[in-house]
Amino acid sequence: MPSAVPQGRGQFIVFEGIDGSGKSTQSQLLADYLISQGREIHLTRQPSDRFVGKAIREVLEKRQVIPPQALAGMFLADRYDHILGQDGILSYLDKGIDVICDRYFWSSFAYHGLDMDIQFVIDIHQEIFSLLMPDITFFIDLLPADAIRRIAQRSDQRDLFEKESLLTTIRQNYLFAFEQFDDANITQINGNNPVDQVHQDLIASL
Ligand code: TYD
Repeated sequence: MPSAVPQGRGQFIVFEGIDGSGKSTQSQLLADYLISQGREIHLTRQPSDRFVGKAIREVLEKRQVIPPQALAGMFLADRYDHILGQDGILSYLDKGIDVICDRYFWSSFAYHGLDMDIQFVIDIHQEIFSLLMPDITFFIDLLPADAIRRIAQRSDQRDLFEKESLLTTIRQNYLFAFEQFDDANITQINGNNPVDQVHQDLIASL
């Protein structure tokens, strides 16, 4: 008897939002919910936990300093490896397993848009668009001042981007980038609500 292999390609679900928006919590909650519904889920994130992703964290945590263009290039390299590499995202989707990814290329547009032309960052992603577009992107939106308050509560360690003025520009960059893609299926969720409410809103919009 063949084993019960899920039919068709898995869904690729992406979470985006500024630091402190609660998207990591919400990715986990959605994964738990879908598993409880009998779906097979692979939960992952970018930067990935693979070779390039680990090197990126060295920079984000300020143990290494490199020019912003080099960091943007590392994120692109990590994305290729995360999508195409062994046990990468496509391998799960091809098996019919849904993949939830905490951040994807929208983060590159929003964050690297601080240091360079967003259109340039979009342009270097052309091949990634043909490889893998999200089936749905949840953008958890909240005001940068509220995000900063949350970040301050959970730690006193700030990474590169956790300042209110930066988060304000990052949020604007997200909104600008979303406007460049007409058919990208982006769902904006109010991240000011309590965790459970946000989770319910997400499920309702699935
Ligand atoms: P991390 O602490 O792993 O995640 P989060 O703050 O979302 O819980 O940090 C990821 C950081 O990397 C975050 O500050 C955004 C940044 N980033 C980029 O600059 N470019 C990218 O392409 C991605 C995916 C993330």
